[in-house]
Amino acid sequence: METFTIEGGKPLSGSLRVHGAKNAALPILAAAVLAEGQFHIYDVPHLKDIEVMLRILTELGATTSHHEGAVSLDTSSISITHVPDDLMGQMRSSIFLMGPLLARLGEVTISRPGGCAIGERRIDLHLSGLSSLGASIHESEGYITFRADRLIGNNIFLTFPSVGATENIMMAAVLAKGTTKILNAAREPEIVDLQNFLNAMGARIRGAGSDTIEIDGVDRLRPVTYRVIPDRIVTGTHLLAAGLTNGHIELTNTMPEHLTALIQLVQSCGVEINTHHDIMEIKAHNRSRAIERIITSPYPGFPTDLQAQMMVFLSKAEGTSVIKETVFEGRFKHVNELARMGASIYVDLGSAFIRGVDHLQGTTVEATDLRAGAALVLAGLAAEGTTYVEQVHHIDRGYERIERQLQQLGANISRLDL
Ligand code: EPZ
Repeated sequence: METFTIEGGKPLSGSLRVHGAKNAALPILAAAVLAEGQFHIYDVPHLKDIEVMLRILTELGATTSHHEGAVSLDTSSISITHVPDDLMGQMRSSIFLMGPLLARLGEVTISRPGGCAIGERRIDLHLSGLSSLGASIHESEGYITFRADRLIGNNIFLTFPSVGATENIMMAAVLAKGTTKILNAAREPEIVDLQNFLNAMGARIRGAGSDTIEIDGVDRLRPVTYRVIPDRIVTGTHLLAAGLTNGHIELTNTMPEHLTALIQLVQSCGVEINTHHDIMEIKAHNRSRAIERIITSPYPGFPTDLQAQMMVFLSKAEGTSVIKETVFEGRFKHVNELARMGASIYVDLGSAFIRGVDHLQGTTVEATDLRAGAALVLAGLAAEGTTYVEQVHHIDRGYERIERQLQQLGANISRLDL
């Protein structure tokens, strides 16, 4: 079992280039199914989830390679319409393949993805969205099959601005007959990146980044060369690590405009953050002040993917803060582990009440999911003594060798195979 060992108390310092965004790369790799030919996609991080997506594409008939962030993908021979069950089970983001496979091959079968540590992870909006485009749906023994000779454009209202459902519907609609309008669409930057990728392929999409996205269906798309946007959650994680350790770091290959909510909140705590083009400089001198109330919400609100990391930052701030999690019902699994390190956190009715303490104490803790695991690493950086973080495979799903990233920022962290 791989475990991180962290000697805490050392201010971070140094410079780090942020890698490409997992949550942009995954739908973009799926969208490549929509055209036949050779793609070159750059700044794709080497992560477990990306590895699984490339294995699924290979099983469907594509040829793939991934070297130093560059993915080469030939989708000419894709002919399989059934997403392999075992790989579907390893990564629920495989659901992104429904729209593209249905649009290109006229049929797709997936096993219903389960929930995970952070919540039920429903897919009703994906299913109703594809049905609205004229696909017939058949479900039996846990398998869902969609069929459509040609999808037909339609107006689709999302009862919740689901990121995945917005992306799946976009990818299905690009080859549909007629125009599709997605209302109450998710507005995340990764959706804008997907629009830009698809439009480069010859699609006709407008409005990504707003709550209304319009797609005029076309007959064919072509393969392209593309570079993925930087990962805003990895950027935010390191920003908070610097704030927690009274560090002074520089992050490059960032898009500060994707982190407005986080930057403003952390600046209000007394941390200095300067941005210039893709460069972000973070300087923390003294103990941060608490934040009265944070509510996670769809973009451009405070991102749920930074909630756990922000909670660690506030667990050492001066005063009491409250964080309300509104996106995923099970996303407080890090609280018990933080309490074992001396944090003073009380959870009630979906809100965490955090009373800042002077110090955290290193001990052995367990990662339960991707962002909770990253939060525990941050806690180890700030704690006195040694922290062991177990089950680090969760963290490897979203951070490319996080220990190497942090070593580059001066942290005393190493990966042990115990
Ligand atoms: C994407 O997940 C991200 N994953 C998540 O990042 C992120 O937390 C989430 O968006 C919210 O920003 C990828 O992009 C690969 P949603 P997704 O559909 O698409 C409910 C990480 O840490 N819902 O916006 O699954 C759902 O139950 C991961 O990198 C429905 O009810 O998120 C949840 O409560 C974690 N019906 C809420 O919407 C549906 O059909 C948000 O889900 C779909 C979703």
